[in-house]
Amino acid sequence: MIPIVNTISEVRQLIKEWKAQGLSVGLVPTMGFLHEGHKSLIERAVKENDRVVVSDFVNPTQFGPKEDLAAYPRDLNWDSQLCEQAGASLLFYPSAEEMYASDYTTYVNMEVLGEELCGKSRPGHFRGVCTIVTKLFHIITPNRAYFGKKDAQQLAIIQRMVRDLNFDIEIIGCPIIREEDGLAKSSRNTYLNSEERKAALILSQALSLGKQCLVQGERNTESLITTMTDWIKKEPLAKIDYINIVDSSSMQPVKIIDRPVLCAIAVYIGKTRLIDNFYWPE
Ligand code: PAJ
Repeated sequence: MIPIVNTISEVRQLIKEWKAQGLSVGLVPTMGFLHEGHKSLIERAVKENDRVVVSDFVNPTQFGPKEDLAAYPRDLNWDSQLCEQAGASLLFYPSAEEMYASDYTTYVNMEVLGEELCGKSRPGHFRGVCTIVTKLFHIITPNRAYFGKKDAQQLAIIQRMVRDLNFDIEIIGCPIIREEDGLAKSSRNTYLNSEERKAALILSQALSLGKQCLVQGERNTESLITTMTDWIKKEPLAKIDYINIVDSSSMQPVKIIDRPVLCAIAVYIGKTRLIDNFYWPE
C-alpha cells in the first residue's frame, strides 16, 4: 500500500531523504475524491519525476461561508488506491489542524488575476488557494507541480505567484479530462442526479458552439458570449454564474479577440456549480 502521511514533520523527513539521494520530486495538489482528471496529473508527474507526492486536503480557507466545505465528498481509501495505481510514492493527508494553527493569520493574496471569473463569484477563494499552495510548496519543496487546465484561472494564478514570489518550482498545466459525452470530470459531478447529469452537458456544448464561431472568424466577445448564453438558457435546470472571455495571461476581459484568450464559464445545474473552459488558440 502507498504510505499515507498525516504530519508535516514526517513528510519533510521523507523528502529530505529523497533529496539527499538526488531524487527529483513532483507534487500533485488535490482535495481528494480523485477521478481520471487527477489521475492524469499523477501519471504525468510519475513520468517526469523520481518521486511523486499527492496531497489530499479539503482546504477550508478556499471555501466561502455558504459553500460546500462540509458536504465536499471524501474517500481516503479510494484516493489511496487510485494514487497507488497511478504510481505515486506518497499520499500527504493532513488534518485541518495540522495545516492551520487555531491562531493562523498569514495569507497569500493575488491581485488582478483573481478579480474576474471565479474570483468575482467566490470572494476570498483564490486567497485560500494561494495560501494552501504556498504552504504545500514550502512543505514538499517539489521540483515540479502539476495543475489541471480545468481550473484555468487557478493555473494562471499559480504560475503568476510562482514567478512573482520566486518559487524555484516548474508549474505544469495538464489538459482537461472529460467523460465520453464531453462533461469535464469533477469531484462535484457526484452531486448531480441523473436528470442534472444530462443537463450538465450544456456546458461543454456551449463551449463547442463558442469555439465553432471563433473558427468561423467571429472575434467579437459580446457576440460570442450572447451565442453561448442563449444556448445555455435553453436548459431549464441551468443557471449561468458567468460566461467570459479573458486575456489568457492577465485574466482581464477582452472586447475583441486579438490575442490568446481563455473562454471560461461557470453554470449552476440545480444547486451544483460546474466550471469549464477552452483556450484560444488551444
Ligand atoms: P481539486 O479540485 O481536487 O483539483 C486538483 C487538481 O486536479 C487541480 O489542478 C485541477 O485543475 C485538476 N483537475 C480537476 N479536474 C480535472 C479534469 N477534469 N481534468 C484535468 N485536471 C483536472 O484544485 C484544487 O483541488 C484545489 O484548489 C487545490 C489546488 C488542491 C488547492 O486546494
